[in-house]
Amino acid sequence: MEPKFKYFELKLLEPAFGSKLTDLIIELDYLRKKKLGGSTHPRTFFQLKEIFHILESIGSARIEGNRTTIAEYIEARLHDEGTTDEKIREIQNMEKAMDFIDENIRNYPINRMLVSELHKMVVAGLSPQREGDATPGEYRMQNVRIARSQHMPPDYTQVPHYMDELFEFIQKDTSPKYDLLKTALVHHRFVWIHPFRNGNGRAVRLFTYAMLVKQGFNIDVGRIVNPTAVFCNDRQKYYDYLGQADSGEEQGLLNWCEYVLGGLKEEIQKIDRLLNYPYLSKEILLPAIEFSLERKVITNIEAKILKVAVGEQIFQASHIRKILPDKIPAEISRILRRLKEKKMIVSEKENTRKYLMSFHNNYLLRGIIKALGENGFLPVKE
Ligand SMILES: Nc1ncnc2c1ncn2[C@@H]1O[C@H](COP(=O)(O)OP(=O)(O)OP(=O)(O)O)[C@@H](O)[C@H]1O
Ligand SMILES: [Mg+2]
Repeated sequence: MEPKFKYFELKLLEPAFGSKLTDLIIELDYLRKKKLGGSTHPRTFFQLKEIFHILESIGSARIEGNRTTIAEYIEARLHDEGTTDEKIREIQNMEKAMDFIDENIRNYPINRMLVSELHKMVVAGLSPQREGDATPGEYRMQNVRIARSQHMPPDYTQVPHYMDELFEFIQKDTSPKYDLLKTALVHHRFVWIHPFRNGNGRAVRLFTYAMLVKQGFNIDVGRIVNPTAVFCNDRQKYYDYLGQADSGEEQGLLNWCEYVLGGLKEEIQKIDRLLNYPYLSKEILLPAIEFSLERKVITNIEAKILKVAVGEQIFQASHIRKILPDKIPAEISRILRRLKEKKMIVSEKENTRKYLMSFHNNYLLRGIIKALGENGFLPVKE
């Protein structure tokens, strides 16, 4: 069937009070207000956040692969070499854009400028024949189709009008109880308009992340939301629900919102599990150390020290002396120095001799990724 354009008015929905969608809104609103309360040290948590951002970027860039590909990507990233590989570039673009949102979104209004900036970041350095766009940051000047979709985006001459309407809808002063519904509806409307020639999906996933951070699902209050995971774990499902919303009918739009909010809730709950340190240490960190030892990435003694690091979260040389009673202090200092060089431990603060384990930028990562995978934290299947 030929895709068709079907207009529908952009407006808020009023889900029934007894509906699952209302329950989701209430639950998410509770999570939005809950402060960082987990027992995981913030420094450890931020390392996890970084890993999740990488995973989101990989998911959004549609990298097909298993845990090994992911680990290899991350390890290649450790060497920080410039790359000509478009796929890698695409992931890096997403990562940079997410960092940009984390750092700047508080001072940025949600408007055309922001969308334009995000789109520029998404397609930077990518060829228009592949994942790039010939006019970064600018609305399209031609009509487009969406692959595998029955929806025909509006005529290009209408794009500025529909986008302005979208920004007005976002900025309209409505009760915060509508924020999440708005976010879901805006996500659909954005891709329904398809303002750019290419990169609309990646741009809208970032835009959604930006809206959520603005609404208070942010790192300052301890929560990282991984919206792209919702949309990337199962692409087919994502497209199916977008297709339902294309109808413009209330039921289709409600189904779409329920899908988005249900996914967000799952992602936030995952993060909550990682904030529980007994869980994190037993299921993720200790298995990662074992794995690294098996792979001879670390020595026996280093593994012992890292296990102390996991047990204590913050440790010092005196803890190590207890488990290595036959080593002289100079030798312990040497081993700790070596671990610091390998970036597997870092000082808690500058000029202190208190340390914590570091795993986001060294070869321990492979074990971390493996353990995350085994505990259902990765979108990819083996
Ligand atoms: N039926 C649909 N209605 C509206 N939007 C849709 C529909 N199906 C898919 N889309 C959106 O179109 C996007 C693809 O558009 P485009 O190629 O411009 O984005 P991209 O960022 O290059 O690709 P991708 O999202 O696959 O990474 C999808 O990610 C999705 O957000
Ligand atoms: Mg595309």
